[in-house]
Amino acid sequence: MEADLIIQNIGQLVTGASPGGSKRRNAMLDVGLIENAAVAVIDGKFASVGSEDEVLTEFSSENIVDAEGRVVCPGFVDPHTHIVYAGDRLNEFELKIKGAEYLEILAAGGGILSTVANTRSASEDELVELGRERLDKMLACGTTTAEIKTGYGLDLESELKMLRVIERLDREHAIDIVPTFLAAHTVAPEFKGDADGYVDLVCREMLPAAWQWYSGSCFVEKGKPFFCDVFTEQNSFDRGQTEKILDAARSLGFGLKAHVDQFTNLGGSRLAIEKGAASIDHLDAISEEEIELLAASETVGVVIPTENFSAGKSRFADARRMIDAGCAIAISTDFNPGSAPCPSIPMAMAIACRYQKLLPSEALNAATINAAYAIGLGRTHGSIEVGTRADLLICDCTDYRQLAYEFGYPKFLLTIVAGEQC
Ligand code: NIG
Ligand code: FE
Repeated sequence: MEADLIIQNIGQLVTGASPGGSKRRNAMLDVGLIENAAVAVIDGKFASVGSEDEVLTEFSSENIVDAEGRVVCPGFVDPHTHIVYAGDRLNEFELKIKGAEYLEILAAGGGILSTVANTRSASEDELVELGRERLDKMLACGTTTAEIKTGYGLDLESELKMLRVIERLDREHAIDIVPTFLAAHTVAPEFKGDADGYVDLVCREMLPAAWQWYSGSCFVEKGKPFFCDVFTEQNSFDRGQTEKILDAARSLGFGLKAHVDQFTNLGGSRLAIEKGAASIDHLDAISEEEIELLAASETVGVVIPTENFSAGKSRFADARRMIDAGCAIAISTDFNPGSAPCPSIPMAMAIACRYQKLLPSEALNAATINAAYAIGLGRTHGSIEVGTRADLLICDCTDYRQLAYEFGYPKFLLTIVAGEQC
């Protein structure tokens, strides 16, 4: 049979195949390796995956790429980013070096709120341009699918502007995007001291308007989900406010996510797991009891080693404990101007191995198949299996463990997205 593309002479093919759902425990150690492999692509999807003999017996193509014995792995899935914003947080970077704390800066009206001011005053076109540049950096670091959050608008008009920017980026960029509505990123400046008032606005007006936008967007056409997220933290939203927002979102049809336990345990992990969240993210302060609940649920725990690294912290979310307890764990960059200005999933993997004690196989599964499950795309993205989207990386190495072992440079010789070379 004629294929649109064949990649042959693959020394190690990391398939990440996981037919039963997200990976846990020992399955995290299994990257689904096939040696001396090939893949065939038709219509942007994998049509055949296996040993070179098997694939080449069945398929031929005028478009053949020789991987020259190197590693091929799925394109990375970044399940948590905030890349639509204007301005930077360089002053805050210096303040933090001198000892200021993230939550102190936010409480004083800086941090997220300074990015809100810059993002509100930027035009849609400017934000698309800035978002495109950041997606280009992510693609250069091997990311082929990403979630993008709003959350720097915090009023209806600006949040809808961010959603339109996310849709334009999805239409024009090779990276496949899933949108998340994060109007509850922090209390809008107009509601300072009245978080309940802002939560009412989010539930009554902003969530329904966002859902209406989604209903007419390209994401519905493409069968992609739409998530609602909340930052459950001191000076942002407490447990009760989080519950109101998640309930209102769920009744409209949103999938759920929550930033929980980044600094303070407010019971958000338990709450979000009980509400059936697709993911709970950060998890630095999660309790042992909540780890057990997470392990018994379908919710994916997203850890963000780049955030701890960027803050110069020596403590990280205990991803080792969570994997050992049976949780499905994913890794993200959290790419944002404040807590993690980092586009690189390989950097996040390198940190996770060293400070969270993940093995390279676990880090790779956490950055591909489990990350895809964290954004509702586990059946179609994040693995190299017949029928999944043909996103793959030809890596500049012959042993997949080098992806987490070496760090600090782009390791990819060729990136294929939906069967096309980028
Ligand atoms: O995931 N914690 C809240 N949100 C982001 C940071 C956003 C920002 O600081 O601009 C995070 O760390
Ligand atoms: Fe975040």
